[in-house]
Amino acid sequence: MSKFSQLRRTLIGSALSLALAPLSTLAVAAEPIVIKFSHVVAQDTPKGKGADKFKELAEKYTNGAVRIEVYPNSTLYKDKEEVEALQLGAVQMLAPSLSKFGPLGVREFEVFDLPYIFDGYEALHKVTKGAVGQQLLDKLEPRGIKGLAYWDNGFKALSANTPIRAPADLRGKKLRIQSSKVLEEQMREVKALPQVMAFSEVYQALQTGVVDGTENTLSNYFTQKVHEVQKHLALTDHGYIGYAVITNKRFWDGLPADVRGQLEKAMDEATDYANQIAKEENDQMLEAVRASGRTEIHALSDAERAAFIKALLPVHKKMESRVGATTIKSIYEATGFDPSKF
Ligand code: LMR
Repeated sequence: MSKFSQLRRTLIGSALSLALAPLSTLAVAAEPIVIKFSHVVAQDTPKGKGADKFKELAEKYTNGAVRIEVYPNSTLYKDKEEVEALQLGAVQMLAPSLSKFGPLGVREFEVFDLPYIFDGYEALHKVTKGAVGQQLLDKLEPRGIKGLAYWDNGFKALSANTPIRAPADLRGKKLRIQSSKVLEEQMREVKALPQVMAFSEVYQALQTGVVDGTENTLSNYFTQKVHEVQKHLALTDHGYIGYAVITNKRFWDGLPADVRGQLEKAMDEATDYANQIAKEENDQMLEAVRASGRTEIHALSDAERAAFIKALLPVHKKMESRVGATTIKSIYEATGFDPSKF
């Protein structure tokens, strides 16, 4: 399409949008503001669906003054590159897992990685929907990043090619983790060998035996086909994976106020949506993994779960210097978690 007909289309589109929304205060520019939203997971996951929902709502509420381009599955950038791209302004929006903020210099986010710190979504939301969650997002601003929302994924399982029923079953295994010192310590605590690796490389690393196993949520396992290359999966629920939706602060602050307001509204609604579907999506993916018949799923007995908790809880104390004793304490207080009960 020529530049002229492109412009014509944009102008006609803008005129139509205006006609359809006469009460809107949004000034519709000839060229829409483009927001590139890059992420590393499949579209058919809680984060993928959340990003698509945000696109739908943001474009609707801004009457086309903003166009959101979603790039899923590491098609634009991988884990580490995407944060650099955001800081440089090459992308405008990301939703990295909370385990990936340490390398950015904000170690406190790794508190979300502490094993067994959240006894389910309800406890977690006391943090992500409360003051502690907001204080953590505020810590991103000196780095030129604005935190817009928390999106849930879910609780992690562990996988390998040998059965996992007890912490000792992980001994000596090379296990892929995200780039978090807390996750590193968690694996060392059970004498496993943690290997930090980009999400996009996990399937191949498991397939070729570069690593023996990994941990992730069921939606990530299924959509990356990890169950095809792992014979055993244990439903340990030992940790949480969720996201902070972030944007380049300079970009965000530079948006026209009415546009920003509509984007905030779209983000609030997309956040509710993503958090509503997260558990169900993971439950469905567990059934999909089960139905594939490729991997044996082990649900922990109470005694087995207690053994994992006992083995991993010392990580909380050991990581005080990394994430801050006060950060850990504020989470205990928000959720009511009491380590002395175990
Ligand atoms: C991972 O690297 O395992 C996850 O952070 C991927 C994701 O974004 O859910």
